[in-house]
This record gives sequence, structure tokens and C-alpha cells, in this order.
Amino acid sequence: MKAKITLLSGDGIGPEVVAEAMRVLDFIASKYNHTFEFKERLMGGCSIDKYGSSLTDETLADCQSADAVLLGAVGGPKWDDPAAKDRPERGLLALRKGLGVFANLRPVKVHPALMEWSPLKPEKLQGVDILVVRELTGGLYFGWPKGRDIKDGRERAVDTLEYYDYEIRRVMELAFKLAKGRKKKVTSVDKANVLESSRLWRQIATKVGAENPDVELDHMLVDTASMRLITGPAWMDVIVTENMFGDILTDEASVLAGSMGMLPSASLGESTVGLYEPIHGSAPDIAGKGIANPIGTILSSAMLLRYSLKLADEAADIEKAVEETITNGARTADIGGKLTTRQMADKIIKRM
Ligand code: IPM
Ligand code: MG
Repeated sequence: MKAKITLLSGDGIGPEVVAEAMRVLDFIASKYNHTFEFKERLMGGCSIDKYGSSLTDETLADCQSADAVLLGAVGGPKWDDPAAKDRPERGLLALRKGLGVFANLRPVKVHPALMEWSPLKPEKLQGVDILVVRELTGGLYFGWPKGRDIKDGRERAVDTLEYYDYEIRRVMELAFKLAKGRKKKVTSVDKANVLESSRLWRQIATKVGAENPDVELDHMLVDTASMRLITGPAWMDVIVTENMFGDILTDEASVLAGSMGMLPSASLGESTVGLYEPIHGSAPDIAGKGIANPIGTILSSAMLLRYSLKLADEAADIEKAVEETITNGARTADIGGKLTTRQMADKIIKRM
């Protein structure tokens, strides 16, 4: 097949890890006779530096017309001024919104050989295989009004947590559909004891649950869920939750896997154009050293093959190679080794 992939390496370690994922995709193209056409574009801090905007209209258009977008990471201390009118993160949010990718899939699996890297006891980690489905284009990140003003002589800041029924329903339906290919269990996480938006969330979760009687549904408050992720993660299958709860819970869940550097994500919407990115950030402390773990990005490229290009065998080929490479003892610094970013990718490619 022929596919167009837009690469947004971004900032910090982004370019280092995206370069390796691109080599993996090139290898897949030659092994399975596909043609992947890559277009590299700037997004985030690097785009602010060059164009004065974290996401230009041209870059967004190049992403919208691609089959898939692979992103590294954005942000860094250079662009952290709270008074700045644009920030790298704004570009990422505008990209998610502009692509309409309302569901962010963040799988968390614990590789047995990496259990010692998690602060949790190995017995808690046995069998952990969670898929967090985070709502990505609504909630506090996008609700209106938002901003700063002076009210009653006081400086005020406002963010709004807003959800429409259809926004909840579409992400919920996807979570149920994904659960059917897994352990058929959905945990819907909300704060329905306090938030109106969570009461609507729970009401719709219950309706979608009734439409899918073969899937078991529970509701859990977000504070309880954050505890359960540590005390009993092996019980969980699919977790579906609103944007900000999902942001926080997935950083917490990543600790189970031993290193954030291992975890991929896929952001999907109505169309097949998906956005794929590791869940880690730009890691400015190690940027430019060539020691970042490329696995989160390489596994994101496997998700790209599976969800946007429908190349399930090719995706499984990458995932199996990563799994075996780790079993065989290959380690970057975040998981206690000395391999460089390039060397880790080389080992994975060799296994394929
Ligand atoms: C993430 C990140 C982003 C988010 C930031 C960089 C805007 O934390 O992808 O989890 O909050 O969504
Ligand atoms: Mg986050």
C-alpha cells in the first residue's frame, strides 16, 4: 500500500525518538512492500522559533491531508514563560482539535522483565494490561469561558469543564467496542458526586452500557480510581474518562510499566487520520544526548500501522520485536542500561 505520514518531531528528545521510529517504518515498508511517504513539519516550540506560531495553518493542513501523523514531544523551559502568548502545548491541543481526534488510547502493559523498574511490588504488577481511553478534545482543556480578568477588583482566572452528550457518547462507544476485543470490562471514571459534567458522563456511560450487555461496566470516582491503579491494577481492563482525569491517571499508570519511555498512544476520531505519540514529554534534561528510550515512539508507530493503515500483521511484527528485545536484556538508561537511542532501535529492527 501507499501511505502519507506527516512527522512532527517537535522539541527536546522528540527528533531523536521520531528518527528511530521512522527507520522502523522504513524497514516495515521494505519488508512488506509498502510505500510510506514522509513529510517532516515543525510543531511546538521549534515552530514558535521559526514561524512565531506553535502550529501554522500549513502544518495543520499537511496533517489533515495525511493518512497519519507521528509526533515526538513538545515543550521545554525555553518556552515556559507564563506571560507568553503562544506555547508549544497550545499547538498540540490545536492539532488534536483540528484533527478531531477525540479518543486517546493509552495502553499500559507491564513487561515481566521490567517489573523491578516499577516502585510497586512485582505481585501487584502480575497480569497488568490496561487500556486507558482518554477523551481528548473536550472538558477543561477546551471549555469556554476561559481566561483571566478583573472581577470585583480582584484578579480572576477561569477554566470551564464542559461536555456535550455526543462528545461523551462517541468516546464511550469506542471504549466499549475496544473492550469487546479484550476482557470485556469497562471502568468509567468520573467525579459524579461533585461535578455536573460527571453526572452527565455517568448517565451516558450507563446508557451505552445497557446497549452493550456483553461488556461489564463499573463506575468509579476518580479519587478512588487513582488509588486502585496502585492497589489493584491487575483488575482493570478498559478505563474511559474525561480529558484531564485521563491526563493525570495515565501518568500515574505509566509508573506501573517501569518507565514512561515505554508507552505509546494513539489518538483517533471519526476519520482514519490518527495522531500517534509516545506519552512521555520532551525530556529537556537528556535532549541531544542520544540516550532517550525510543520504544514509546516505536510502539506508537505500530499503533499507527494498526489503526490508520489497517496493517495489523506489520504492527504485530514491531510489537513482537520490541517484546523480544526487552526480554533479551536490551536496556536504555531509563530502564537501567547503557544503550543509545539508535542502538535500541537497531536491536529492534534486527529482530524483525
Ligand atoms: C499529554 C500531555 C499534554 C496533555 C500536554 C503537553 C498539553 O501532558 O499528552 O498527556 O496534557 O494532554
Ligand atoms: Mg500528560
